Amino acid sequence: MDGVTVIDHPLVQHKLTIMRKKETSTAGFRRLLREISMLLCYEVTRDLELTMETIETPLTEMQAPVVEGKKLVFASILRAGNGLLEGMLELVPSARVSHIGVYRDHETLQPVEYYFKAPEDIAERLIIVVDPMLATGNSSIAAVDKLKERGAHNIRFLCLLAAPEGIKNFQGAHPDVKIYTAAIDSHLNEKGYIVPGLGDAGDRMYGTK
Ligand code: URA
Repeated sequence: MDGVTVIDHPLVQHKLTIMRKKETSTAGFRRLLREISMLLCYEVTRDLELTMETIETPLTEMQAPVVEGKKLVFASILRAGNGLLEGMLELVPSARVSHIGVYRDHETLQPVEYYFKAPEDIAERLIIVVDPMLATGNSSIAAVDKLKERGAHNIRFLCLLAAPEGIKNFQGAHPDVKIYTAAIDSHLNEKGYIVPGLGDAGDRMYGTK
């Protein structure tokens, strides 16, 4: 699918299968999400540009590669995005963080924004927006709308599971934003859940159901 990268690394797929199982505990789900988010982060950053820097090893001076440009921004769509954020920050501890509070009205399935915080200079940084589930796409579209309003233009979207409906909707609104996901599932049900999916990601990671 154009503009969508499915991260098919065997460890990602294996961990995702365990996360989908209804008998997986809250503790297990949370641990797996942390682990899988590091692997996803590795893939979503694999083509970052490098630049050479002069360093001194204990033996000699050398030219060594470092990631070019300003620090990345991880933009977490609250609250489930925070589950992905944690592992990603372990891998890229210097990343800046944006929090975007958007919840889905369970009646209308439309996004309602209640919080936004991001670094001032997001126009100069690569932003990786994270939310485990790309379902209708409405919350993700609203989050990216907001980031673009603040000047961001180099944006990627990372999730765990995507529904074809969500991908279509998201790409219709933001064709310039590449989507990275561990799987594309069958469809959305009448309540807006991804099928077969893994249930409500926020509830599963925080044990709120
Ligand atoms: N959000 C979730 O947490 N799960 C879904 O299946 C859809 C949206």
